[in-house]
Amino acid sequence: MSGTGGPTGPTVRALLFGVPMLAGELPGFDAEAAPEEPFPLFLAWLTEALVAGVREPHAMTLATVDADGCPDLRVVALRDATEAGWTFATNADSPKGRQLAGQPQAAVLFHWREQGRQIRVRGPVVRADAETTTRDFLDRLPGSRAASLVGRQSEVLTDPAALPRAFEDALARVEADPGTVDPLHALFTLSPRSVEFWQGVPGRGHIRLRYRADRAGGPWLRERLWP
Ligand SMILES: Cc1cc2nc3c(=O)[nH]c(=O)nc-3n(C[C@H](O)[C@H](O)[C@H](O)COP(=O)(O)O)c2cc1C
Repeated sequence: MSGTGGPTGPTVRALLFGVPMLAGELPGFDAEAAPEEPFPLFLAWLTEALVAGVREPHAMTLATVDADGCPDLRVVALRDATEAGWTFATNADSPKGRQLAGQPQAAVLFHWREQGRQIRVRGPVVRADAETTTRDFLDRLPGSRAASLVGRQSEVLTDPAALPRAFEDALARVEADPGTVDPLHALFTLSPRSVEFWQGVPGRGHIRLRYRADRAGGPWLRERLWP
């Protein structure tokens, strides 16, 4: 393997010097006029992100904790969101799947850098029933179903040549029987207890609005936070 850096190259600090953050024109956010519940605001911001051409606005960072209480995180795709929560899919046997089985609490984060926006959601996580999970799986494109059927997510890949073979085998299974369902496919919904909207406003104090609830569905307490 080759790298691009070396012991004589510039330091990270030097590389980052002067790299702008929250640059360009950012949208406004009237927190005082925000809705009483977080979901309509999420929907409004997601719609604005799509209209603004934000790349992969559905890519969210999912944080979980392992059995030792050590946090872990990775990007997953948002499959759906409703008042009931934010839904994503993964392999039940993956590290995150096992972490969620052991500690069904999580946080997700959206960072829409083109708009200087961040959304944080925290709360308990519930796994969907078999019928909903199967429907979600069969809704996917064949390539995505094959990738899922390959399985073994996050296991050590000792022979890299085994991966394309496994993928081709899985794709052949999907093509031969389009009703094939990955038994390890799992769908989780994070039920929000806290949702925070952050709008960057360089030089004038960023705007933060947090919604909090003690139970699913509210009632929601709205609070402005110091940046
Ligand atoms: C843009 C993007 C989207 C991803 N979407 C998913 C996803 O929806 N589900 C998933 O299991 N992994 C997804 N991944 C891969 C995960 O980040 C991660 O590598 C994998 O799930 C293993 O995580 P784990 O070892 O913590 O279980 C995605 C990665 C990226 C960068």
